[in-house]
Amino acid sequence: MLADLGTYPFVRLDEARAGALARGIELIDFGMGEPREVTPEFIRRALAAAIEPVSTYPKAVGMPELRAAIARWIERRFGVVLDPDREVVPTLGSKEAIFHLAQVAGGDAVAVTTPGYPVAARGARFAGMDVLELALDPARGHLPDLGALDPARLDRLAVLWLNYPNNPTGATIGLDDLERAAALARRHDFVLACDEAYSELWFEGPPPASALQLADRTNVVVLNTLSKRSSMPGYRSGFMAGDPELIAALRRYRPNVGVAPQDFVQRASIAAWDDDAHVEEVRERYRAKRDALLPALQAAGFTSVGGPASFFLWLRTPGGEDEEACAMRLLESGIVCAPGSFFGAGGAGHVRFALVPTPEACARAAARLG
Ligand SMILES: Cc1ncc(COP(=O)(O)O)c(C=O)c1O
Repeated sequence: MLADLGTYPFVRLDEARAGALARGIELIDFGMGEPREVTPEFIRRALAAAIEPVSTYPKAVGMPELRAAIARWIERRFGVVLDPDREVVPTLGSKEAIFHLAQVAGGDAVAVTTPGYPVAARGARFAGMDVLELALDPARGHLPDLGALDPARLDRLAVLWLNYPNNPTGATIGLDDLERAAALARRHDFVLACDEAYSELWFEGPPPASALQLADRTNVVVLNTLSKRSSMPGYRSGFMAGDPELIAALRRYRPNVGVAPQDFVQRASIAAWDDDAHVEEVRERYRAKRDALLPALQAAGFTSVGGPASFFLWLRTPGGEDEEACAMRLLESGIVCAPGSFFGAGGAGHVRFALVPTPEACARAAARLG
């Protein structure tokens, strides 16, 4: 299986970066979507204060106080009241949870959207399942056409993955489309898994919707994380919430794997979920970076075809240039971006900029583009 999967695309980007660095080029790195913001001080303090002389194993179901803090945030943000003991389970960031979900869902295939974050498909293949790719349609706001799924396959589907705000396109989804996907999941008895890692980063319009707002959450699970919202990617802290039956299955499965965040990380996470002021600051910082870089990219011939959310810019290359050639050309000026083809078939002719360098570095990149 491992040999079949090929190199994780970003490992290839790392090799190209290393080559450019060796040639003395100073790099501004918009390649990987890894936040490099300062974690707010009150969160770091909460972590330090929680370190005990004796360190025991964290429980797979997480601390009740953390589940309660997550439920409080969901109620504040989405107006939905969940039972923290039956409808929420903490995760070690969301990547492992995305990877593992295929292990607890019955069926023989997992549907993912393309271009997209590759982890759900990789998890499905490690679980021995087929991967069905659904193209995001740029003409429909980067939503997939669920009608394109063969009804015979739908009955044997384990999971349909949706990711909004979307990596790499920045698109958002409305509750109507989530409702249609959830109705399909109930009809064919598969899991609708909504990866909402970027739900707190939006720059126009109303705050992104969550599948937790659906009136009927049967067969629906939502994943979120502190990595982007609270600039805590290294802490590894997120959650899954939704259908109590699914959460019960995850509570049985997860002790086998050993993927609970450390207790001191859970304490820091409680502080993070309980505070919204720092999230507004994080959002404004990404907005400033977007405002600094996007006009310069447009002036350099790129066309923005992405949506209003996430910290990604999704752009068509100038004059239809091949995306890998374009990324290599920018690398020579010290600007690292990810070729769209890294995210699957629909990414040809596109590049993705992750707005993770500092605002000053974004301004320098804009000047270099000029
Ligand atoms: C769409 C999407 N989902 C999930 C993740 C994983 O985030 P984490 O494991 O830090 O929670 C990422 C990270 O880049 C992502 O882009």
